Amino acid sequence: MSKLSITDLKDFRNQRALVRVDYNVPLDETGAITDDKRIRATVPTLDYLVKGGAKVILCSHLGRPKGKRDPKQSLRPVAERLAEILGRPVAFVDDSIGEKVDQTIGIMQPGDVLLLENLRFYAAEEKNDPAFAEKLAKNADLYVNDAFGSAHRAHASTEGVAQIIKKRGGKCAAGFLMEKELKYLGGALSSPARPFVCILGGAKVSDKIAVIENLLTRADAILIGGAMAYTFLKTQGFGVGKSLVENDKLDLAKSLLEKAKGKKFLLPSDHLQATKPEAGATTRITDGPSIEDGWYGVDIGPQTIARYNKEIAGARTIVWNGPMGIFEVPEFSKGTFEVAKAVAANKAAISIIGGGDSAKAVKQAGVDKQVTFVSTGGGASLEFLEGKELPGVAALSDK
Ligand code: 3PG
Repeated sequence: MSKLSITDLKDFRNQRALVRVDYNVPLDETGAITDDKRIRATVPTLDYLVKGGAKVILCSHLGRPKGKRDPKQSLRPVAERLAEILGRPVAFVDDSIGEKVDQTIGIMQPGDVLLLENLRFYAAEEKNDPAFAEKLAKNADLYVNDAFGSAHRAHASTEGVAQIIKKRGGKCAAGFLMEKELKYLGGALSSPARPFVCILGGAKVSDKIAVIENLLTRADAILIGGAMAYTFLKTQGFGVGKSLVENDKLDLAKSLLEKAKGKKFLLPSDHLQATKPEAGATTRITDGPSIEDGWYGVDIGPQTIARYNKEIAGARTIVWNGPMGIFEVPEFSKGTFEVAKAVAANKAAISIIGGGDSAKAVKQAGVDKQVTFVSTGGGASLEFLEGKELPGVAALSDK
């Protein structure tokens, strides 16, 4: 990588390391953390800094509190979980800037770990406000960004603060998680082992336009699933029944299909259709690519599963982003889970799961440990697959 790595940081004993992490973890109604993958994923970076004697100051956002203090979106429970995971105390301050923060950092010892309160309790964070970034930078000798999941945001803690620290002559490096994400996703885009097969699902074509355009130039096959398939099929004259379709994006879908001519761009050839898009519906497999009037497409059908799984089995690089149907409803989960299992079964391929819903799906299918890499980024992995430069990466020091 052309950016400074955490392993390039030497002799940082006693230095204050401001570390941007993405501890935006899912919580249940009681506020309990339901998945701590994003916390665990930062452990290598934290261990490295602690062992080297840095004073580790962690900052993150949680949810979208929009500049207001909301106790339900406090990072305090995350500090407790991190302490359990690290097996060492993690201090917590209920603010991310200001006197209390300055005082706590002032008494930190080498190897101490501190988590600051949710950055987004200040609207200035998302505005990348220079004054706010300056307050964050004030207590840092060096900066490490391990928040791949937030690297597509140009916020004060991901972008502004790095610019300030660099200007002062301080170093800004990528953490181990950030490096791993860039290695796998970047490797797939720049030098994939072939055949390179991409599986794209999800509800909307409009969310995936740039990804499809970028992958059309790089992948050997693109397999389409989820509701966005219905928009493509409608432009080809197939019946879509009452399925979710982006009627204002039909021209766009048509032009993507034009661009895909001559490439392996596969659409479902059958579906699971249901009388309503929720549990308890009557379901039936369609006869072909059309969905019957009055029915909803909710998953890919058995013939499509078989066609897609054949492509997946022959691949040497696989990138998957977006489910094949409404997998949250158990009756509609087969297509997504079968694809997950096929991806995991291909041990000859590098398989990369692009975060968000697909990460949830591989976990629910029980194969998350059998794929090569599950990204911790949702939006960030999507923007990376679009070929965009991520501001949180761009802001780091060059090697
Ligand atoms: C995510 O969960 O994708 C990241 O934490 C970014 O969150 P955001 O979409 O609220 O910026």
